[in-house]
Amino acid sequence: MVLQKSGNISGDHRVAIIGGDGIGPEVISEALKVVAASGVKLETTNFDLGGARYLRDGEILSDATLNELRGFDAILLGAVGTPAVPPGVIERGLLLKMRFELDLYINLRPFSGVGPGQTKSHDFIVIRENTEGPYVGEGGVLRRGTPHEVATQGSVNTAKGVERCVRFAFELAMSRKRKHVTLVHKTNVLTFAGDLWQRTFDRVAQEFSEVVTGYNHIDAACIYFVQDPHRYDVIVTDNLFGDILTDLGGAVSGGIGVASSANLNPARNGPSMFEPVHGSAPDIAGKGVANPVAAILSAAHMLEFLGEQTAATALRVACESPVTGTTKAVGDEIVKRVRASI
Ligand code: IPM
Ligand code: MN
Repeated sequence: MVLQKSGNISGDHRVAIIGGDGIGPEVISEALKVVAASGVKLETTNFDLGGARYLRDGEILSDATLNELRGFDAILLGAVGTPAVPPGVIERGLLLKMRFELDLYINLRPFSGVGPGQTKSHDFIVIRENTEGPYVGEGGVLRRGTPHEVATQGSVNTAKGVERCVRFAFELAMSRKRKHVTLVHKTNVLTFAGDLWQRTFDRVAQEFSEVVTGYNHIDAACIYFVQDPHRYDVIVTDNLFGDILTDLGGAVSGGIGVASSANLNPARNGPSMFEPVHGSAPDIAGKGVANPVAAILSAAHMLEFLGEQTAATALRVACESPVTGTTKAVGDEIVKRVRASI
């Protein structure tokens, strides 16, 4: 299985915990409770980072802290961002800095369930390129605030970056029953970037004769997510399309409260980072009502990546049938299910 670390691993894993802002710490504490119930022992270190920390003393993610993070086996993150900090500061300075500097080039986001109005269940994984595209910060602004203002924001796509992402998607497809990969892009308009993605996809496909391939434009994919989601198995797409498509994926798969993600460095020359797709949800923070399932399923990705397959499966199975209630009640119920299955 592509996500598994080779060989047997025993003993502790050193995990950096970034609870972050809003509901982040609440859902992470439930996730850690559930991991403990699986029998896997984590050696955790808390990092106080996020919008609240930034407002307190100005630290977003210093190079010294980043270097400390490099020494861990994995990073588990709740959510970061608070309304008091202008958009972009924490996102670029903390989350994107980690993704870029730790070379977490795969953002893996699985979706399953029965979509609204659907009768058949779907089960697919979006592989979102996580270090390039319009996210890199290319571009700039001229004559800001004047009627002649010019703003550009380019999408950066490298042959290396696209290929390693596409290759990951094909390898993942090989580990799945259907062995199907769909490229999602906008090749009819973004003819430069789209051409690089399509040619790379076609070339890598030749090495995987058992994998069936498809292509959808991003706008059409949005329709299919709602009307025919079971057509998909593995989807590979760029950073921005993947960002948007995975919120939609959450919306048709039980809601954003259960959408999990893994930010992977498949080369394993540093830690990978695991986080729910949802944000810090300041409107419900501190009320104890946030759904911890997305964080628990993100912890399951972490366990799988650390080689703890049995525990990862136990967490996933425990989250299969719905649980409702407060954050703590949901965590307690999932702990009970995990204990019963181990
Ligand atoms: C996500 C988030 C981030 C992104 C933001 C917070 C920078 O929306 O993980 O999907 O756009 O990647
Ligand atoms: Mn997003």
